[in-house]
Amino acid sequence: MGSRAVRVRCPAKINLGLWILGRRPDGYHEIDTVLQAVSLEDELLLEEAREGFALETRGLPIPGGEPNILERAWTLLAPRIRSRGVRVRLTKRIPVAGGLGGGSSDAAGFLLGVNRLLALDRSVEELHSLAAQLGSDVPFFLKGGTARATGRGVEVRHLCPAPPAWIVLATPPLAISTTWAYARARIPLTPEGRGGTILAAALGSNEWNSITPHFHNDFEDVVLPEFEMVARLRRALDASGVLGSLLSGSGSTVFGLALTREEAQSAANAIADLGASLHVVRTTERGVALAELT
Ligand code: C5P
Repeated sequence: MGSRAVRVRCPAKINLGLWILGRRPDGYHEIDTVLQAVSLEDELLLEEAREGFALETRGLPIPGGEPNILERAWTLLAPRIRSRGVRVRLTKRIPVAGGLGGGSSDAAGFLLGVNRLLALDRSVEELHSLAAQLGSDVPFFLKGGTARATGRGVEVRHLCPAPPAWIVLATPPLAISTTWAYARARIPLTPEGRGGTILAAALGSNEWNSITPHFHNDFEDVVLPEFEMVARLRRALDASGVLGSLLSGSGSTVFGLALTREEAQSAANAIADLGASLHVVRTTERGVALAELT
């Protein structure tokens, strides 16, 4: 028997490193990235229904247009589900299209949550494959924590948890298209390809002082010259005394990393008048987390 309702907490991510290595025959890009889950979370409440898929959203607005990623996730699962459905309430707190993986995390949470709710008994491999069909960032969130992802981004190797840290997230009010950013990225003729290895090794030192010098994001060369507001935030965070700062994914969020909450909060105060939405959060060792409700 499945449970009657499942609550899923879906964390955001930041990229501590991201290298674009080349174009792939399937139209995607070969990347090497190090991801870290953080404690800003969306929440899904999943309830069993007689049939179909119904979605209610609260919190931050989600721009319409394309079918919601959760509806696509249901469509992937649905051919194998007979005469049962799911009612979803999504509380959105992670800024949308901000490089924080919110939609991807929601999709991973939905797959794990519906698997539990309807007692579908899908294997880890099956869930990973469905996650990869939904988006390049989705598989990471099944386990979260600290991980290195290669290939299209769906080959995920979990690393030892990074030492705890406080993160300031600064999201300007602009959505940057990932497709656009990849299309503009400069592809090296002979990619060096060692950045991810060096960053992963530095993470093993367990000392942020040795890790942050290896932060790197190839999207900065595309996004910072094009979006002055992002560049300004990046410079201001750098000058605010944080240990390291970087663009997350293809943006628009930039983050700063500090060892204490006070330091992170003072960095947030220093950039408070630059028009970004600000969150002070922690790194987390978790991915999506389920709780059954009766
Ligand atoms: O996989 P996802 O749907 O999140 O990717 C969004 C878009 O980003 C893709 O349509 C593609 O244009 C681009 N992308 C890419 N290479 C990757 C991941 C994404 O070119 N490794």
